[in-house]
Amino acid sequence: MTQCAVFASGGGSNFQALIDRQKAGDLHVEFAVLVTNNSSCKACDRARAHGIPVVHLPPSKFADERQYAAELMAVLDKYKVEIVALAGYMKMIPVSVVRKFHNRILNIHPGLLPAFGGKGMYGERVHQAVLDYGAKVTGVTVHFVDEEYDHGPIVLQETVIVEDGDDAHRLAERVLAKEHASYWRALEAVAQGRVRVDGRKVMGHV
Ligand code: GRF
Repeated sequence: MTQCAVFASGGGSNFQALIDRQKAGDLHVEFAVLVTNNSSCKACDRARAHGIPVVHLPPSKFADERQYAAELMAVLDKYKVEIVALAGYMKMIPVSVVRKFHNRILNIHPGLLPAFGGKGMYGERVHQAVLDYGAKVTGVTVHFVDEEYDHGPIVLQETVIVEDGDDAHRLAERVLAKEHASYWRALEAVAQGRVRVDGRKVMGHV
C-alpha cells in the first residue's frame, strides 16, 4: 500500500474526506502520518481519532529553512512516505523537499488555476475575488506542487457554477463539497501510477 503523508493546518475537512474514502475502500493508500504546523488544529483530532500519528513541525521552531527541511525529510523517511497530500497546509514546502518529491506532492486549491491563485490567495479570499471579478464559473484544482505557489502541473479540475446571489461563504460551501468529492480521485490516480507527467501536462485516467 502506498504510504501517504497529509500536511494540514486547519479544519482538515479534506483530510477527513480522504480518510472516509480510504475506509470505504475507494482510496488505496495508507495514511502514514499527519504533519502540521498547528498542534491544536482540528485536522490533528481527526488524525488521532483514526490512529494516524501526528507530527508537529512549525517552521518557526527552526533556525533556518535548511534545518526545517532536514527535519521534514527525516519525518518523511521515518514513515516511508511515498506521496504527500497537502490539505489546507498554510506553510511553504522547502524547495529541497519539493525537488526530492518531484511530482509526488499534491495540493488542492479552491479555484480554477491559474486564475485566482498565488501567494495570499486562500480561503474566502479566493471566492471573494471570483465574485468581485464577476466570473461565472469557479471550481477545484488538484495539482502537483512545484517551487512556485499554486503553479505545478494540473492533475484534476472540476467546475462549480457561480450563481446569482452567491456570497463568498455560500460559494465556499459548494466548492468545498466539490473538493471532498474530487481530491481522493486525484490521489488514487497518482498512488496507482495511473498518471504520466510530461512537463506541465498530466495524462492518464483520473
Ligand atoms: C480547502 O479549501 C483547500 O482547497 C485549501 O484549503 C482549504 C482547506 O480546508 N487548500 P479543510 O481544512 O480541508 O477543511
